[in-house]
Amino acid sequence: MNVPILRVPFGDESTQFIHQGIDQILASGHLSQGGQTVKWEKAFSTFTGAKHAIACANGTAALELILRGLGIEGRSVIVPTNTFLATALAVMHAGNRVVFADSEPATLALDIADIERKLTDDVAAVMLVHIGGIIPGYIDDLKKLCDDKGVYLIEDAAHAHGSTINGRQAGTLGVAGGFSFFPTKVLTTGEGGMVTTNDDALAARIKKIRNQGKDPELANHISEVGLNYRVSELTALVGVQQMMNAEAVIADRQRAAAHYDKALADMPGISLIPLPDGATSSYYKYIAYLDEDIDRASLKSVMREQYSVSLTGEVYADLCHNEPLWEKFSYCGKDRGNDPVACNRWPGCGCSQQQGGFPGAEYISKHHVCLPVYPGLTDEELNHVTESLREALASAKAGA
Ligand SMILES: Cc1ncc(COP(=O)(O)O)c(C=O)c1O
Repeated sequence: MNVPILRVPFGDESTQFIHQGIDQILASGHLSQGGQTVKWEKAFSTFTGAKHAIACANGTAALELILRGLGIEGRSVIVPTNTFLATALAVMHAGNRVVFADSEPATLALDIADIERKLTDDVAAVMLVHIGGIIPGYIDDLKKLCDDKGVYLIEDAAHAHGSTINGRQAGTLGVAGGFSFFPTKVLTTGEGGMVTTNDDALAARIKKIRNQGKDPELANHISEVGLNYRVSELTALVGVQQMMNAEAVIADRQRAAAHYDKALADMPGISLIPLPDGATSSYYKYIAYLDEDIDRASLKSVMREQYSVSLTGEVYADLCHNEPLWEKFSYCGKDRGNDPVACNRWPGCGCSQQQGGFPGAEYISKHHVCLPVYPGLTDEELNHVTESLREALASAKAGA
């Protein structure tokens, strides 16, 4: 039996809905930011409970729009080193400096003590990433810390469509949340993004910036330095379809995760990660820790070659602060030129210093593993994954 790394689920009904919708869009001649975009936004706002949902080109654009909408420019923003680099790139695209912080192995989220250490006067925002769909239990303490310091809490919710904590959805826990609809994500439109916020003024400003700065109140004159981060109606149509199936997709991922929770509870060589009290995950990833004497690369290769099970990509094996771009660029995204240490934007801001010292994130990056999780995995496939894993871990332990 072959268990692939991913299946992107578009069944007959969904495909038919999309085909019919394409015909209608083409007949309407309205191909960008029209009725489908409004429908997708309304459905996402209902789904998350956020007052506003604003569709945009992709998840990176969503994060940049939030920062620009809040007027954060020329400041420092704390982001985890354990994330996809897009979180940091959005900070730089909006004209800010990245300050990396450590993460806690228990939830893979930012380490709150390290945030506290790094909250200098220059910091305007903290970007919290719900890795794999896990919202950390300290979320209210972090919000309070940010409020006390006059710093915005922004959620990078690229992994967390439908994850909740104490009944509140990802994307509604700080000032705004940014979602990605990339093909690997819990909900996908191929490319696509969404901002959620309860702040009316921020939503209005983000809508303007998304559309080149056009101000409907000024008869469409331009009143902001905007961007073209609009979405095509064809993308939005797929978004509408995805929202129709969202609950079912998440329930199916949770079914797979429940299977893994049960099987891993007594499996030697691996430890599951319990969700924080009051949290649910939509399981963008199912993450577990391998014992320290188990080599992840060899385990993955045994799983693939001997059992035809593809374990998915990690979140993350390569930490952001180690990316080669920092050899050439400062933490505010400026070319270092020929001088390997000078920041050419704000000399003395710390961009020239090597950022390092992230023991929690290093542990996460080395020792976690992600099991296949996507809708439609059959019980037989799930059993095959867990039984193969039990055997592969036993032989790894025997050889260790
Ligand atoms: C944590 C995180 N943030 C941001 C992004 C960026 O999203 P997009 O690829 O839609 O721009 C991703 C996408 O993989 C992500 O995983």
